[in-house]
Amino acid sequence: MNIQPKKVSESIITMTELVLPNNTNQLGKLLGGQLMHWIDICAALCSSKHTQRVCVTASVDRIDFHHSINLADAVTLVSSINRVFNTSMEVGVKVYAESFREGKRIHTNSAYLTFVSLDNDGKPTAAVKAIPVSEDEKRRYEEALQRREARLQSRKK
Ligand SMILES: CC(C)(COP(=O)(O)OP(=O)(O)OC[C@H]1O[C@@H](n2cnc3c(N)ncnc32)[C@H](O)[C@@H]1OP(=O)(O)O)[C@@H](O)C(=O)NCCC(=O)NCCS
Repeated sequence: MNIQPKKVSESIITMTELVLPNNTNQLGKLLGGQLMHWIDICAALCSSKHTQRVCVTASVDRIDFHHSINLADAVTLVSSINRVFNTSMEVGVKVYAESFREGKRIHTNSAYLTFVSLDNDGKPTAAVKAIPVSEDEKRRYEEALQRREARLQSRKK
């Protein structure tokens, strides 16, 4: 399969979830593990839309929880390809929590995940290149290389 490079904007995924009682802890706050699951799914959709292949999560960078998210909030996750390397790519996910009742929306988390594109035999295969166009996309593209170098360094330790 020979797919031409695609613009980053072609594979952006936006996902909205409603925080239900089953997703919360005893204080009525969204469970961290539930949020990490949504982040992984949102990034997986983006990488497979971009590559048109099955992609697996190779690693997830540190995720900080700056704000708690409440029961009945709407959680919107937006993922995009920051940069494709060879078989792997960095996907960025931004998370927003919104209370419709209060009319308030906050950016709660950002996450960076590495996905690897697989061929039909389940082996890593070259991923379609992603072309950054906007200023933000170009900035993320540059920063992704620094993060990859730090990841490769830490895997050597
Ligand atoms: C991720 C996986 C495919 C890598 O396979 P591998 O045989 O180690 O492949 P390679 O060493 O050739 O690495 C392939 C790419 O993955 C990257 N990679 C491998 N491990 C990584 C890690 N821990 N973090 C970031 N990138 C990683 C490599 O840098 C390389 O990238 P590049 O081709 O862009 O340079 C393999 O380890 C795997 O299948 N892991 C399990 C994935 C999984 O089950 N995820 C959860 C369910 S989706």
